[in-house]
Amino acid sequence: MTSPSFTFPHRHLLGIEGLAPHEISGLLDLSDVYVEKNRSADRKSVALRGMTVINLFFENSTRTRTSFELAGKRLGADVINMQVAASSVAKGETLIDTAMTLNAMHIDVLVVRHADSGAVKLLSEKVNCAVINGGDGSHEHPTQALLDALTIRRRKGHLDGLTVAICGDVLHSRVARSNIYLLNTMGARVRLVAPRTLLPAQAERMGVEVFHDMVAGLRDVDIVMMLRLQNERMRGNVIPSIREYFHFFGLDYAKLRVAKPDALIMHPGPMNRGVEIDSDVADDVERSLIREQVEMGVAVRMACLELLTQNLSRGNS
Ligand code: NCD
Repeated sequence: MTSPSFTFPHRHLLGIEGLAPHEISGLLDLSDVYVEKNRSADRKSVALRGMTVINLFFENSTRTRTSFELAGKRLGADVINMQVAASSVAKGETLIDTAMTLNAMHIDVLVVRHADSGAVKLLSEKVNCAVINGGDGSHEHPTQALLDALTIRRRKGHLDGLTVAICGDVLHSRVARSNIYLLNTMGARVRLVAPRTLLPAQAERMGVEVFHDMVAGLRDVDIVMMLRLQNERMRGNVIPSIREYFHFFGLDYAKLRVAKPDALIMHPGPMNRGVEIDSDVADDVERSLIREQVEMGVAVRMACLELLTQNLSRGNS
């Protein structure tokens, strides 16, 4: 399926940091091919025939896990979803022992989600198969940033020169971090809009503009990307109340008015309606890309699986 000119020179996909612009573009170009294939009656291919993909998710997931499963199956692989709660992890087995056990079964791709930043990289150093980071703590979530980029590129035709506001709980968000790397690499301008308590220390050093006010931060932007309040990663109270948070930082039509008239709205899901986003805005068929993001997720994951498994036979590091 890939054009002979494009090879992805990495054994694993652990993050967006370190990917070159042409590697990101190549991944998105192949994803575009899979979007069209997924929309046709002939969705199945054989690129991963005989291969095994294991989804090893230590944290909850709906979209990411399901779309990796669908992606693997559409490419002809056997896909196994490990139920961590029902596995030996629940008996105290370490992450590395679990990985070594799966490795001994000669699998080809391990997709891992873990609550600790860096856990997926650690695991990738112990196995022979390709490892894809399905989200590690508040560090990176590369396939989410790629599917977001694909969604934007298909709508706007390009990424360079666009202004993207990433709003809400940036501090705990691996989605924000991966998107910052990707958008900066591809020449977009990134703004972070959040209360001080939900921003990483020295956020400005990430090559972004920082705002603490939605009306200032959304002025003339092309894309508004909303983030969930990730209570599961919070220590102590970081917002006074949900009502006040929505008042100042929730996206509604009043705040959206200052963005470009054709500004589009995104959210990685799961959404908390009435907390970070108003329901009417989320469901606006003209401006909300939230459902399209889910569709793009399957295509992007097919592209990642295809490119990384090609590398297995070539022996790239
Ligand atoms: C995100 C995640 O898990 O980081 N969700 C996703 O993968 N679609 C964002 C979130 O949980 O809020």
